[in-house]
Amino acid sequence: MEQAQTQKKRIFSGIQPTGNLTLGNYIGALRNFKLLEDEYDCLYSIVDLHAITVRQNPAELRKACLRTMSIFLASGLDPVKNIIYFQSQVHDHAELAWILDCYTYMGELSRMTQFKDKSQKHADNINCGLFAYPVLMAADILLYQSDLVPIGVDQKQHLELCRDVGQRFNALYGDTFVIPEGYIPKVGAKIMSLQEPEKKMSKSDPEETYVAILDKPDVIRKKIRRAVTDCENRVLFDPENRPGVSNLMSILSALTGSSMDAIAAEYDGRGYGVFKDAVADAVIAVLEPIQNEYDRIIADKAFLQQVMESGAERASQIAHKTMLKVRKKVGLAAWKL
Ligand code: TRP
Repeated sequence: MEQAQTQKKRIFSGIQPTGNLTLGNYIGALRNFKLLEDEYDCLYSIVDLHAITVRQNPAELRKACLRTMSIFLASGLDPVKNIIYFQSQVHDHAELAWILDCYTYMGELSRMTQFKDKSQKHADNINCGLFAYPVLMAADILLYQSDLVPIGVDQKQHLELCRDVGQRFNALYGDTFVIPEGYIPKVGAKIMSLQEPEKKMSKSDPEETYVAILDKPDVIRKKIRRAVTDCENRVLFDPENRPGVSNLMSILSALTGSSMDAIAAEYDGRGYGVFKDAVADAVIAVLEPIQNEYDRIIADKAFLQQVMESGAERASQIAHKTMLKVRKKVGLAAWKL
């Protein structure tokens, strides 16, 4: 089986360009991506083709794509060490997705919980793309012979489908695709919603439930002050019984490196106001420099143009190799007779 050219393992991740990337995305994903860039061969795809499975305003979507790329760069990801690109600019994603559609069963896709959720939310637009969404995701991953895919639990079922379809194809045609595994980061805390701390912080939930990476300091402070806690007024880590306070402790710990014990020792008994202000200070201290960098990058069209083009170009080179193999195996028309 053809492996990645380098000895390094390859990591692939896709990010939807919709909604505001959150503090949870930063702590749980972006910040860790930076730590992977020397040890792994990483591709980060801004998945604009996935985004149009639900209606988007075209001008907004285009802006959101650039915003997402700029946030990635502003968080410190090196566009030379990593391949950062827009999915739709590498045509092979759509082509492989079509081919894999022909190796995926209706029954498998009907079982996807995200499809069930999204078709309920968008009952007026249950389109074929929404149904086949997981096949496009499988194509994203298999196209690059990816070894590892960092995903949260919500994407586990999709990764499982990707493995099934890849294995099915390999069984029919001989080894073609590397079968990927999920990647669980060594460091990384799961950050929960500020309003419903039993739920993961999500950029598709209402504004007040998350801190956006681009939220200004006064907004950050306001949101954290309003975060749900409890009436015990104790700063002690107990996610099961006191999810709100524990989530704020996780945020503080993730951003400052302090242990839960150290945080409890410092803030327990001093009231939630003092504690929440400390959390807000820590969040602002981390996000403000990223925001400054973001402002600089988003204004630098020449730089973005160059990152975008070289990302698509480098991704295409890898993708083309896989597609040549796939086309041949399936029996599609040859380029040279
Ligand atoms: N479905 C993923 C999400 O909503 C995004 C995604 C698209 C993805 N393609 C991918 C994630 C490939 C990992 C690998 O979060």
